Amino acid sequence: MSENSKNSGTKPNNGAVDNLEKEFKEHSVAEFFKKNKQMIGLYGKIRTLTMVVHEYVTNSLDACEETGILPNIDVKIDELGDEYYEVTVTDNGPGISLDNVGRAFGKLLAGTKFHRMMQSRGQQGIGASGCTMLSQMTTGKASKIITGQDGHKPIALELVIDPKLNEPKISNVKELDKEFRGTSVQAKFKGCLYRDSDQGALEYLRRTAIANPHAQISFRDPLGQKTVFKRTHNVLPERPTEIKPHPKGTTIDDVLTYCKTTKGRTVASFLNNDFDRMGAKGIEEIRKRVKFDLNKDPKLLTWEEAEEIVKAFKVINVIAPSTDALRPIGEEQIGKSLQNIVQPEFLTVLTRKPTVYAGGYPFQVEIAIAYGGGAGKKVGDQTSMDIMRFANRVPLLFDNGNCALTKAIQSIDWKRYDIKDPSTAPVTVFVNFISVHIPYTGAGKQAIADEEEVLEEIRLALMQTGRKAGIYIAQKRRSFENQQKRLMFYKYIPEVCKALSAITNENEENLKKKMEQMVLEKLKIDEKKEEEERKKAEKTIANDDNSFIAKKPKKEEQKKKSKK
Ligand SMILES: Nc1ncnc2c1ncn2[C@@H]1O[C@H](COP(=O)(O)OP(=O)(O)OP(=O)(O)O)[C@@H](O)[C@H]1O
Ligand SMILES: [Mg+2]
Repeated sequence: MSENSKNSGTKPNNGAVDNLEKEFKEHSVAEFFKKNKQMIGLYGKIRTLTMVVHEYVTNSLDACEETGILPNIDVKIDELGDEYYEVTVTDNGPGISLDNVGRAFGKLLAGTKFHRMMQSRGQQGIGASGCTMLSQMTTGKASKIITGQDGHKPIALELVIDPKLNEPKISNVKELDKEFRGTSVQAKFKGCLYRDSDQGALEYLRRTAIANPHAQISFRDPLGQKTVFKRTHNVLPERPTEIKPHPKGTTIDDVLTYCKTTKGRTVASFLNNDFDRMGAKGIEEIRKRVKFDLNKDPKLLTWEEAEEIVKAFKVINVIAPSTDALRPIGEEQIGKSLQNIVQPEFLTVLTRKPTVYAGGYPFQVEIAIAYGGGAGKKVGDQTSMDIMRFANRVPLLFDNGNCALTKAIQSIDWKRYDIKDPSTAPVTVFVNFISVHIPYTGAGKQAIADEEEVLEEIRLALMQTGRKAGIYIAQKRRSFENQQKRLMFYKYIPEVCKALSAITNENEENLKKKMEQMVLEKLKIDEKKEEEERKKAEKTIANDDNSFIAKKPKKEEQKKKSKK
């Protein structure tokens, strides 16, 4: 019998307690993510490669937009061996100084975006460094960076992360004698796969181009095939402004954290300076509800006093958060992008007004429904509803089942909008959710938590656009059904007349002529009705600035196409 099993369970085994004490060790955040790379979305063979491209490309877009540069991004994937690839992403952004480049690519939880209340693609400070770590874990190789800033010679360097310290180890730093402004990162990865599929890098970049018409993105796949998504809009999205935290979304811990860095000398001036929508009236309301003096130094605030403030925040009236920090893509741009890239027959777009979730975070929803033409997901000769999810203009390709955007789409009764079965409908549903803080369900940033306000807002937007799409689709369906009816009449006329002639002895040819005449008259009435309905639907759509019906190609163009 072992020592352990002899133990009655009432007293701890002293030897085991000593061992446990000796086992106690600290580990760095880099060691943690090295062991748990799935938490940052770096798992699955195809997914891994797409996620790497996603992390580098979102950083390039963020950096360009923040510094007023129209982004040019170049992505290359080379196959080096079995499940072995090299990814290179080059941008024309601002570049990074030698002081910061190590932390940008070689330190987890470091970056410029985590502490801001502003819409950006990155928020955590683990994207780029997570890729550096994955590269060194799977290949033992360093990541290569070239970065150039205006007025400085570009520098090239190699870098790995020291996982014990979560610090970059930089080597081979060289000044380059050439002109280059931007950042180029090149890293190798093993145990992954490139596929031209729904979840591959090409589809990721196609969707990125749809949501970022101001960006020029080129891609060379492992077979050397090049795709260029041209810029269709030459104006940068206006830079979002940073907003302050809103009282309604603030916790006690937040108050105490902000207190430490405030420039306010009294609690009253701290409330006024550091919170959104806190004016003299709001501060007076708080003064009435707390037991301490608001002239107190905020750095001396106790937990209990902060709790009193948060309780007061909950009950006083505060205007909804400012929404200046949000930058939607806009109906016109979404419309142009989808027409250009998806090429549907019909399209309707909607950007809803900003609103708030969890009391303090402003957000906004943009929806488009495209029908016919290139819309829908095509597998062989089957077409089904294609859902394009975006968060702050970034395509979300994974974890769709667990995402509020998918749940909202699935909760819609599509039959109401003449989409009888989404699994056979040539429909693309585009949803862009933007916020200063996206409530992702995990650090892999692929699914959005189903906050009640978020779900409701997306549903409303879907119903609004669904109604417009329904008008077009219903008219198309009726026209198709009439066409089928016509074909059926003509198919059965000869058989019916043959039978009639046998019974009545009437001449079969005469019967046919009369019958055809009758059908023709009936059809003329039907056609007239159909034409009226079509015109009515088109007029309704034409009166709406955000719905479009693709122009039918002219007859000559159609002929040329069919010859090809
Ligand atoms: N191409 C680039 N050009 C300029 N700066 C960059 C570039 N790539 C990364 N950076 C800087 O490095 C930082 C770290 O990037 P990283 O992707 O790790 O985090 P993040 O983008 O802040 O957040 P997330 O983890 O959500 O992506 C960024 O915040 C940015 O300041
Ligand atoms: Mg990032």
